[in-house]
Amino acid sequence: MQSDPIQLIKSKLNIADVVRRYVDLKPVSGRWMGACPFHQETKPSMSVNEQEGFFYCFGCQASGDVIDFYKRINGLEFRDALEQLAAEAGVDLGDVRPDPQADERRKMKRLYLDMHTWAARHFSDNLRLPAGSVARDYLQRRGMSPEIVSEFGLGYSLEDWHALDHFLQSKGFTPEQGVESGLLSSNQKGSIYDRFRARLVFPIQDLSGQVIAFGGRIITEGEPKYLNSSDSPIYKKGDHLYGLYQARRHMTRTRRALLTEGYVDVLSLHQFGFKDSCGVLGTALTPDQVRRLAGFCNRVDLVFDGDAPGRKAALRSAEMILLQGLRVNVVLLPEGEDVDSVLQTQGKRGFEACLDAAEDGLTFAMSTLCKEHSPKEIMDWAQGFLQKLQDASLKAFYLPRMAQGLGLSEAILRSTTGVPRPQARSSAPRPAPKVGREDKDDRYFLRFPIQYPDYVPDLCKRGFGTILTTDWGEKLWQKLVKLHGQDLLPNLDDQEKRFWAECRLELEQTLAFSGEELQEEWNHICDRIEGVREKYRRRELIEALKLAQERGDEQAVAECTKALNDFLGRSDEQH
Ligand code: UTP
Ligand code: MN
Repeated sequence: MQSDPIQLIKSKLNIADVVRRYVDLKPVSGRWMGACPFHQETKPSMSVNEQEGFFYCFGCQASGDVIDFYKRINGLEFRDALEQLAAEAGVDLGDVRPDPQADERRKMKRLYLDMHTWAARHFSDNLRLPAGSVARDYLQRRGMSPEIVSEFGLGYSLEDWHALDHFLQSKGFTPEQGVESGLLSSNQKGSIYDRFRARLVFPIQDLSGQVIAFGGRIITEGEPKYLNSSDSPIYKKGDHLYGLYQARRHMTRTRRALLTEGYVDVLSLHQFGFKDSCGVLGTALTPDQVRRLAGFCNRVDLVFDGDAPGRKAALRSAEMILLQGLRVNVVLLPEGEDVDSVLQTQGKRGFEACLDAAEDGLTFAMSTLCKEHSPKEIMDWAQGFLQKLQDASLKAFYLPRMAQGLGLSEAILRSTTGVPRPQARSSAPRPAPKVGREDKDDRYFLRFPIQYPDYVPDLCKRGFGTILTTDWGEKLWQKLVKLHGQDLLPNLDDQEKRFWAECRLELEQTLAFSGEELQEEWNHICDRIEGVREKYRRRELIEALKLAQERGDEQAVAECTKALNDFLGRSDEQH
């Protein structure tokens, strides 16, 4: 019974409680609604159905059960999401799928995650030791409050080549596993030692709060100033954002992300009440990071140094964010200052003044370009930007603004980038959007067994499958039959899930049939099945008649002709 543990997890975890960890939910006529974290939208467009255990977004059609939600919001593989939720619900997954390699990988990942949990505890305990006084003093000097230190789990790595190494060994991990996990380093001779020594340590958490890596700032003298964990099976540079775990729920409220470069800057922002802040972690901003943010907000306020490298980085980042359809503001700080120094010296007000002076990202990009680049470079940038935009409506949105901002002719920009002129209202309607392999009629008929699953066995006996015309419909119907009375969602693909959720929601929104309508609908479906059966029967008879004629079998021809006439006569009477 493969679906048993899944069932058990779902019976123990309320989907609304899980969603609420990331999104504020409000009761709206008997169900929960909230802003969808999977697309940019300020209106509460996501519905969460506790009784049936699914969510559905009216804006982007994201849908599924609690495992789908958890998987998607944390960017996990299905199996990893399942494991984490199983652990939380206290459900034993048993071992269902015999993929030894994948099992091994998962086991190792679990082990590395455990090591990180231990390491985080070790570092934060160090902060309380006598040897941790350097770090305590440092934090105090920099004005970090105890609340922030504890919320972000800051710690200290001792000035020792083997403190963490030995600690991990005492918990049963080998030094080699320490290296593979990115926590320890090894030199060419193969000796293994602590990667972080005498540093203030910043745990990097994923969206479930699990520590997956660390950053460390030197406290006294030394190089480099900041050191990060190396890439490992559980951490890839450029995938994560520092502080997003702490900021995510605030972002869903403000729909904004304040994005900055430094660890300490993020901490100061939180401390001064800008709780929708996170940091890019020592690399240039990546599309993956922007995608992660897009789940929580629709605007990013970028905070950069006002110097030339800062402006350049701001330009690049603003472009990347615009390309994904988010709004962006660029906040440039006075030269020689960073967020932390502004906050610590001028307080909340001082930083708010910088925010107020922020420029819209597209305007900023264009004015920077115009100031610093040749017309050819400007044209290249504009064309490149428009070409990189995937979404046609975004192209249409940006093009006239860009033409104006860059002083280019709209027509030329259009012709060189292949963005068509917007259609006049009176022109011919565009072709209907493709429904993929989903067919309108199939959708129509399948609604019934999804909304009224009690009828599935009967429909099956009558041959409901014959009225479906697409693979998609046929496959979904097979699942409805095979899993009758069981939990369907874990067995549906994304497209099927979406359709299923739509049907169930419709039922909930009192679009359900009345008793009479239900009877009518039932008759309609049965007629349709009968109609298809007749079509097949006619085709069979015609086929048989043809064969008989080809064989020159007079008697068979006569019989077939009679059967066909009888059949046609009978079906004429009926209709
Ligand atoms: P900064 O050098 O501006 O430092 O680096 P900072 O954040 O202001 O740090 P404090 O205030 O002196 O403590 C900005 C960010 O670049 C990354 C870190 O993420 C840092 O927070 N960085 C910097 C590194 O990854 N490695 C380095 O050696 C330096
Ligand atoms: Mn700083």
